[in-house]
Amino acid sequence: MDNLNEITPLKIHSLKQIQSKHRYPLRLLNTFGFDVFAHEYIAIQTPEDLDHLYNSGIFSQFQFGILGGGSNITFTGDFNGLILHNQILGKTTLESSDEHVIVEFGGGENWHQAVLYTLENQWGGLENLSLIPGTVGASPIQNIGAYGVEIKDCFDSLTAFHIPSGEFHRFNNAECHFGYRNSIFKTERKGEYFITSVRFKLSKKPVIKTQYGDIQAALTQWCIESPTISDISKAVIFIRESKLPNPAVIGNCGSFFKNPVVSDKLIHDLTIKYPDIKIFPAYDGYTKISAGWLIEKAGWKGYRRDDIGVHAKQALVLVNYGNGSGAEIIALAKEIQLDIFKKFEISLEMEVNTW
Ligand code: EPU
Repeated sequence: MDNLNEITPLKIHSLKQIQSKHRYPLRLLNTFGFDVFAHEYIAIQTPEDLDHLYNSGIFSQFQFGILGGGSNITFTGDFNGLILHNQILGKTTLESSDEHVIVEFGGGENWHQAVLYTLENQWGGLENLSLIPGTVGASPIQNIGAYGVEIKDCFDSLTAFHIPSGEFHRFNNAECHFGYRNSIFKTERKGEYFITSVRFKLSKKPVIKTQYGDIQAALTQWCIESPTISDISKAVIFIRESKLPNPAVIGNCGSFFKNPVVSDKLIHDLTIKYPDIKIFPAYDGYTKISAGWLIEKAGWKGYRRDDIGVHAKQALVLVNYGNGSGAEIIALAKEIQLDIFKKFEISLEMEVNTW
């Protein structure tokens, strides 16, 4: 991890007044659509805004929360602190060779728009991650992944503002400690860093990744034998739209739980009882089991209680039909966790953060 204050002159003391907004509505800023308010709210538009705020002392006055696209957060009530909303934009090509390009995006850029930009330029690497809701700055926090790819596969580095010290730091791939839906920003350094920009190393000679069954099925259906990265993106968009609820229509945060990793011994016993079990290799002695399958098998798929429920097409997704609350979602999630433990002796871990 580099201390960028020693490398780049980022300490610009702008005269710009940064306005904090009091009792700010968050309903349109969280994809569950919960009708909650932030005690204070500030939109961060440049890295220098953070520097300026640090010098104003505001970070020691309030508990703060960093918000990107609000697509992985359950607000269980009003946020009694300061929301820092990442709106830092920008796309820059930093290096380009015959083989690769390094492109940097502002942390507040919309993830899917960033993916589309890489496709327009025919740079490969992010196509399997099309249509994931959220921002570029949030993508490394949980090492977003789908259809056989995780961002760690083409992540180069990121720059982040360390709120407790007021310093900018750069993290390379290894320093992010990426794991399955995990990174240093979700564990040891949780809540400390505001990610201002992310760099990806993309390929000008892309290797197409079609090993995920559903992608191959879509390409076969469309009679595409030699797919381009744009074809892969279209297949991914098609699959996501057919299975996952659109947050603009039904509030949700994508997968609510992680797929649990359990011992091969337990899998052996479960396979005898449930021959249709959905499992994937994890690492030596352990296997990943589909949480969606477990929840469906336990009878929760399509369950609805008042305005919250379990999505009818993908049991891993909890939904808000309109007037549900975060507290109700968490209560439902806990019931599901208990039931899965009772039926399968498997603990489900939440993937979504709770504030
Ligand atoms: N399945 C069921 N019932 C269900 C849902 C799934 O039996 O209700 C079975 C499917 O039939 C399939 C298997 O479980 O055989 C896997 O399902 P799917 O392909 O939908 O993937 P997933 O493991 O449920 C993960 C990610 C998703 C990502 C997909 C595709 C996690 C927590 N979720 O879901 O990511 O889009 O793979 O790669 O790892 C997200 O993180 O928000 C997210 C949507």
